[in-house]
Amino acid sequence: MRYPPAAEFALTADSQPESLCRAGNPILADITSLEACLDKINLAQKFSLFNEQYKPKIVGEINDTYVKLVKFQGDFMWHHHDVEDELFFVVKGELRMKVRENGSEREIVIHPGEFIIIPHGVEHFPTTEVETHVMLLEPKTTLNTGNVRNERTQPELQRI
Ligand code: NI
Repeated sequence: MRYPPAAEFALTADSQPESLCRAGNPILADITSLEACLDKINLAQKFSLFNEQYKPKIVGEINDTYVKLVKFQGDFMWHHHDVEDELFFVVKGELRMKVRENGSEREIVIHPGEFIIIPHGVEHFPTTEVETHVMLLEPKTTLNTGNVRNERTQPELQRI
C-alpha cells in the first residue's frame, strides 16, 4: 500500500478535514483511493487504543454521520440534543439509559449486541456500573453533552 508524503496529507487535512478518503480528492488522485481508505474496522482493536472515559473517538464516517467509540463508567448527565438523533450500540458491559418521556422517567438496560436510538429532543442520562464500550452513530454536528456545557463537553474529537 502506498501513501502520499506526509506533507500532502497535512495539506489535505487542513483544506478538507472531512473528506480525506472521499473518491475524487485530487490529492489522492495518484493513489488508489480504495486501497488507502477501504479497510475493515475491528472494534476490539480500536477500543484497545484508548483508556479515557466519556471521550468519544471517531472511527468512521457515513455521509453526515460519524461512527464513534466511547467508554462509559458511572454517571454521565441529563441532556438532550435539539436536532440530532443518537444511536448507542453496546459492544461490551451494560448501558443503563435513563430517559424522560411525557413527564415520567424510566431506565432501559442495553446489553452487548443491542442498541438504542435516542430521538432528538429526548432527555437522556447514560449510566453504567461497569466500564461499558459503546459504538455511537450520530450526525457530525452532535456535541456529546448536547444542550449542556461543562467539563465533560468534548468539542474536538480525536480520530483513531
Ligand atoms: Ni446524548
